[in-house]
Amino acid sequence: MKTIGLFVGSLRRESFNKKIANHLTGIAPKGYEFKIISLEKLEMYNQDFDDDGNPPASYIEFRKQLNELDGFIFITPEYNRSVPAVLKNAIDVGSRPYGKNSWDGKPGAIISSSLGNISGFGANHHLRQSLVFVNVLTLQQPEAYIASVNKLFDDTGKLTSESTSEFFQKFVDAFAKWVETTT
Ligand code: FNR
Repeated sequence: MKTIGLFVGSLRRESFNKKIANHLTGIAPKGYEFKIISLEKLEMYNQDFDDDGNPPASYIEFRKQLNELDGFIFITPEYNRSVPAVLKNAIDVGSRPYGKNSWDGKPGAIISSSLGNISGFGANHHLRQSLVFVNVLTLQQPEAYIASVNKLFDDTGKLTSESTSEFFQKFVDAFAKWVETTT
């Protein structure tokens, strides 16, 4: 069994990206578990904590979680045409202390979304840029840009769009193949 961490770039209670993540947990391919990794309590990165050799418990726990995962899927809105701070902070905390990059060499994928048609393109590609540097082997195709995300779920948070549901299944199947190729 391979465990893939899902990282959501929004802390909002009714977050559409959290709803996507919840949906994905139910459609993991055979032999895979998709597990949401909470970023709610991860403190803002401060290099002093690492340099002093006394990182906060939230860093230690987060890095331990990363080290136990077989891959990563990032599901994110766009904030001001870029990656929300909560997700960028997670990348930064996981990449340190210097020489101990917990993202290193593992497969990943990105799903971005927006209420309009641009679908978080800016966040998707800024995130991709950071993932190059921390050496996450990021799936290139299919890309996942989810438009009009606010129209895809019912009041209980269930995905109601059949075409989007089919797309997510194809996406996670492609990701599983990618994991097999890269590991
Ligand atoms: C946004 N939103 C947004 N949308 C977009 O398409 N491009 C953008 O650059 C931004 N910028 C932005 C900045 C900030 C600070 C907020 C709070 C929001 C709108 C955003 O896509 C929308 O609020 C989503 O609902 C956020 O995702 P969740 O919380 O539903 O997962």
